[in-house]
Amino acid sequence: MARSFSVATIGGDGIGPEVIEAAIPAIERAAASGDATLVWEHLPYGADHFLATGETLPDGAFTHLRDDVDAILIGALGDPRVPGNEHARDILLGLRLKLDLYVNFRPTRTLHPDLCPLKGDRPIDFVIFRENTEGFYLGRGDSSREGTAEEEQIAHEVHTAPKVSRILRAAFEWARANGRTRITMSDKSNAVPMHRLWRRLFDEVGADFPEIAREHRYVDVLAMELVQAPERFQVIVTNNLFGDILSDLGAGLVGGLGLAASANLHPGRAGLFEPVHGSAPPLAGKGVANPMAAILAGALMLESLGLDDAARSVEAAVRDALTEGQTTPDLGGKRSTEEVARWIAERLP
Ligand code: NAD
Ligand code: IPM
Ligand code: MN
Repeated sequence: MARSFSVATIGGDGIGPEVIEAAIPAIERAAASGDATLVWEHLPYGADHFLATGETLPDGAFTHLRDDVDAILIGALGDPRVPGNEHARDILLGLRLKLDLYVNFRPTRTLHPDLCPLKGDRPIDFVIFRENTEGFYLGRGDSSREGTAEEEQIAHEVHTAPKVSRILRAAFEWARANGRTRITMSDKSNAVPMHRLWRRLFDEVGADFPEIAREHRYVDVLAMELVQAPERFQVIVTNNLFGDILSDLGAGLVGGLGLAASANLHPGRAGLFEPVHGSAPPLAGKGVANPMAAILAGALMLESLGLDDAARSVEAAVRDALTEGQTTPDLGGKRSTEEVARWIAERLP
């Protein structure tokens, strides 16, 4: 019997709506090949809606997304007309936090060898487990003497044992389920003593996974090693901010932000899926944005819905598009957003 899943989309700002709209036919076709139907609902939230109405994400929309949908697919949030980024904090960070989607799962994988800017053959395949509900992202802090020469801004970085433990455990469990043999935990505990909590819990949680080797890297040296020898990493687990930064570094190793997808997850609940890239305002409306990251975010979504074969077929079609040079200008091609997405959709079984 065909299964049906409800998917809410928030295109958002800049290139967000373009890449989401372009990605939908490929995701839908892959789902159909897995005998599943996706029922889409397009929500208007983003900078335009905020500027027109003052609303970021209304309560009713939040409870609807929490209670009624099987997945959420988001384009990107961020618009120069909203310099304070209030709407992005409420919509994107707000959903991650209020839905308690504590795993930000960000795979970095070689999809085509020519896209790696490094010398030599670099089969890169690691996943970043980014803590998604605390760290600096709670926006807590104080300010004083604003607007004066003595202005002070204090940002609180929050790390609590249960939340650190659960992201560490998620990384170990994924490693175990996926045959990975080593996890790298990254912090900055030499300069930020609070990060020692991560060291302690890494060992405590890791003791339940004796077959998985544990290694620790300060984030500065990890950034260097990711450039020198990215192929040696399998799973990286780290805090919210470092995970944000390292995932763009990872994207740069395998072809750029036009190819990087992510999943915001809480096991057992509906997830939120998105390209890693932002709204790229200078590209908006030109038909040049690479839709592959959004399509691959769709593949992560299909996987979370149990449609593993459909997810694999989407990835394979993206790889074929890269091999065939069916790409947007960021990857050296001449195709438009729409043309690349259509080529991928038509390639699917
Ligand atoms: P960005 O990801 O929008 O762009 C960074 C660079 O990557 C630019 O050179 C851009 O042209 C390129 N790029 C990004 N996506 C691309 C695509 N699909 N195809 C081709 N090239 C692509 O990051 P930024 O410039 O730092 O931020 C712009 C806005 O997006 C800001 O408001 C920022 O806060 C926001 N942002 C939102 C998200 C999100 O919603 N998930 C993520 C990152 C940044
Ligand atoms: C990302 C983005 C967001 C983040 C921004 C837009 C707040 O950079 O999803 O990587 O920092 O999490
Ligand atoms: Mn980011």
